[in-house]
Amino acid sequence: MNFELTEEQLAVQQAAREFAQTELLPGVIERDETQTFPLEQVKKMGELGFLGMMVDPKYNGGGMDTISYVLAMEEISKIDASASVCMSVNNSLVCWGIEKYGTEEQKEKYLKPLATGEKIGAFCLSEPEAGSDATSQQTTAEDRGDHYLLNGTKNWITNGNTASVYLVVAQTDREKGHKGINCLIVEKGMEGFVVGKKENKLGIRGSDTHSLMFTDVKVPKENRIGDDGFGFKFAMSTLNGGRIGIASQALGIASGAYELALAYSKERKAFGKPISQHQAIQFKLADMATEIEAARLLCFKAAHLKDQKKDFGKAGAMAKLFASKVAMDTTIEAVQIHGGYGYVKEYHVERLMRDAKITQIYEGTSEIQKIVISRELLK
Ligand code: CAA
Ligand code: FAD
Repeated sequence: MNFELTEEQLAVQQAAREFAQTELLPGVIERDETQTFPLEQVKKMGELGFLGMMVDPKYNGGGMDTISYVLAMEEISKIDASASVCMSVNNSLVCWGIEKYGTEEQKEKYLKPLATGEKIGAFCLSEPEAGSDATSQQTTAEDRGDHYLLNGTKNWITNGNTASVYLVVAQTDREKGHKGINCLIVEKGMEGFVVGKKENKLGIRGSDTHSLMFTDVKVPKENRIGDDGFGFKFAMSTLNGGRIGIASQALGIASGAYELALAYSKERKAFGKPISQHQAIQFKLADMATEIEAARLLCFKAAHLKDQKKDFGKAGAMAKLFASKVAMDTTIEAVQIHGGYGYVKEYHVERLMRDAKITQIYEGTSEIQKIVISRELLK
């Protein structure tokens, strides 16, 4: 067992930290308030290689390991979780899904521009009536010989308006249950595809979350990922890796809040000394640091298993379940340590607290992570 990061991993961490400080921090409060997607910043993330980190260089990716991805996700999430969810979806759901299961033609056409950020991807599984219960897909992809006819509505889609490549899960043969589901690559601009309303959210307000409507959209057969009926397995397998991304996002939100609280506790004086000299505050800091370290180790373990090509589904679910709770607990305590200042926007911790909540909901709620973990334990 080796707890040391390599030179390359440290360099990625440093690059992500600098990028977050110089490019994401300015304006992050305003973007949250005005619900503005960090478009320019995401473009730069693409140029710096943060949007296709693990993709093979032959498809324009960075060829990096998953540990480096965790490190970069943590640094970027410390500052702007709206930017990091875009990064997570593009890297670990869309790029990974196409690279692992797509055809050579799909990789040439879609993966290459996605890996550089020239195009942004979205992953479309959830529906108004199918969230946790993801097999209850109402969207249909009717087999019409050389194409599928896509009809239905997707809800809550991250990068919903910014994306131009969408992985859309839909039911082709209801009688076959989850084995009758397909995943199709849909392009923005296909006739009958409309981006719906943007959600007005509690947190990650800079992220553009939209509903999507499909009415008789003709999707060529060559845009199906994998064999007929592989769509649900595709979604589950892809989400196993996506959950490492969201766990790292939660880790970053927690460690960002902790760093702010630590610094503030040394500056703020009460009863004649810095509040960091009061044991009640010291114990909060000790709990925060310990829980964050445990969350980080779970993220690294899941990432390491993935890099070793071992089964990482349970480890990823554990990392997400734990890190998202740590994000929630830590950000609440960070606001507490800031007192009244924590409750106003310019100190950042209230935003981190609002952003933390989503990590317990998307890519499978905490209850769903417990289902995934317990099924593995009982298998
Ligand atoms: N990895 C690989 N395969 C899996 C799997 C996993 N984690 N979970 C299930 N499967 C496979 C099963 O093996 C099964 O295949 P077989 O029949 O061939 O064995 C098939 O999928 C169906 O599985 P279940 O019978 O277990 O299905 P279920 O209806 O009981 O549901 C579930 C299982 C785990 C609850 C699943 O529905 C689920 O994960 N729900 C949550 C959905 C979710 O995470 N949505 C996230 C949307 S994307 C998003 O949120 C992005 C974002 O915000 C940024
Ligand atoms: P429900 O499934 O209705 O769950 C409601 C409650 O019941 C939850 O607490 C849940 O844990 C609990 N519950 C449900 N079933 C069980 C059970 N069997 N046992 C115990 N408890 C249970 N989806 C995408 O496909 N792509 C995206 O890009 C995407 N981005 C999102 C961005 C945001 C900001 C949000 C809010 C959501 C996003 N989602 C996305 C959707 C997200 O994945 C779902 O919201 C999530 O999976 C939960 O589904 P639901 O909202 O329908 O809740």
